[in-house]
Amino acid sequence: MTESNTPAAAGKSVKRSAWSSKWAFILAGAASAVGLGNLWRFPYLAARYGGGMFLLTYFVLAFTVGISLLLLETALGRRTRQSVIGSFSYYNKKYRFIGVLATLVPFIITPYYCIIGGWVTRYLAAYVVGSPSAMADGGAFFTSFITSPVGSLAFMVIFMAIVFIVVGLGVQKGIEKSNLIMMPLLIAFTIGIAIFCMVQPGAWEGVKYYLVPDFSKFSPQLVIGALGQMFYSLSLAMGIMVTYGSYLDKKENLTAGVSYIAGFDLLVSFFAGIMIVPAAFMAMGSADAVAAGSGPSLMFITLPQVFVDMGAAAKVIGVLFFVLVLFAALTSAISLMEACVSIVQDGLHFSRRKAMTIVIIIVLALGFFVDGGYSFFSFIQPMGEGSSLLDLFDFVSNSVLMPIVALLTCIFVGWVIKPKELIDEVRSSSKFKLASVWSVMIKFICPVLLVIILIAFVGSSLGAFSI
Ligand code: PHE
Repeated sequence: MTESNTPAAAGKSVKRSAWSSKWAFILAGAASAVGLGNLWRFPYLAARYGGGMFLLTYFVLAFTVGISLLLLETALGRRTRQSVIGSFSYYNKKYRFIGVLATLVPFIITPYYCIIGGWVTRYLAAYVVGSPSAMADGGAFFTSFITSPVGSLAFMVIFMAIVFIVVGLGVQKGIEKSNLIMMPLLIAFTIGIAIFCMVQPGAWEGVKYYLVPDFSKFSPQLVIGALGQMFYSLSLAMGIMVTYGSYLDKKENLTAGVSYIAGFDLLVSFFAGIMIVPAAFMAMGSADAVAAGSGPSLMFITLPQVFVDMGAAAKVIGVLFFVLVLFAALTSAISLMEACVSIVQDGLHFSRRKAMTIVIIIVLALGFFVDGGYSFFSFIQPMGEGSSLLDLFDFVSNSVLMPIVALLTCIFVGWVIKPKELIDEVRSSSKFKLASVWSVMIKFICPVLLVIILIAFVGSSLGAFSI
């Protein structure tokens, strides 16, 4: 990225960053999108919701709704040349609130994302220095780690420190460089480990479960789960993609850029499923057991068991796997932290250094609080018996705020400024044959689906029904 002076909406000249090329934009978008959502969340959802049927539904949704929203956000950013708050108030001050809502999301996600990043760091350290069988004890290792106040906090702080350092180095020296190193390794490791897992004895049944759709497994829950996952995975509805679009040169092809970002994201999710779903199958034995027994602990409890069963390869595969997850988590956490810093910087007109200090204090304080939810504050069970503060933060950001922001954004573009405004923007740099389909998506299909997920998530968490 380079800094340049671009006239802003108000006519003032402001210093804005700019991507050095289309590829810098694609790499940063993919680095934000590919994260724990792909490697930790996607495989357990696929395992739980019937394997192939989930995979098929997810791909259909991602290539229709997902890409449409990604194009909307990046085009809006590039059209207005503003980050998220400015891009809504550019048209009329009264729509500023949509941008403000979007900026809340990274402040809620970053603390708990770094806690899970800390868990991943702990596992990597354990595979490097210890024996792989220590983690394969049916969950005792995991539970005792996350409930130990000192250990889990220490690893959260280590993970955050790496993120702070990279963000502190700035956009070019820190973020672009670290992405350039981590992203190609991440793609290579993903494909390599997936192939290795696929050829393990006993893996084939699981591969079939994952790849061949069983249409009887189709359910509303499956669609809702897939939609929620798609938002999270593509880093939509929180302003990151609007800001990234605003740094993109007017002559770069937007449709191609967006297709690459979504393509990388889907590729990593697909291979993560190949690594983990057959492993769940090997550990649990049957399709029904996998569907009933898969959840967030799949990566931290079930997978270490399967690694141990690989014998001599266990240590190497454990180390490589957790390096991969760590890289994915770091690149996403960096984009989240950068989003927080730029919000404070632009919103309060602070220097980058001052904005960083404030963000570090907020994120650390919230991180301590949420992590304490497993120890000091375990009496707070905000979402019912056994739930944690992390569940609450995850729920408020993913299930409530993100669908609301996405819905408001679709209404804003579909009905207030009208799709043509952004179609012209896309067409200024490339062909856009599917413009009329895109308009229908933004005006009708996406809003309806969003209202459905919102009602479903909130209703299920209030106990009205279960998804
Ligand atoms: N997309 C990231 C992942 O899948 C998470 C994320 C969400 C990152 C929102 C940034 C913004 O892990």
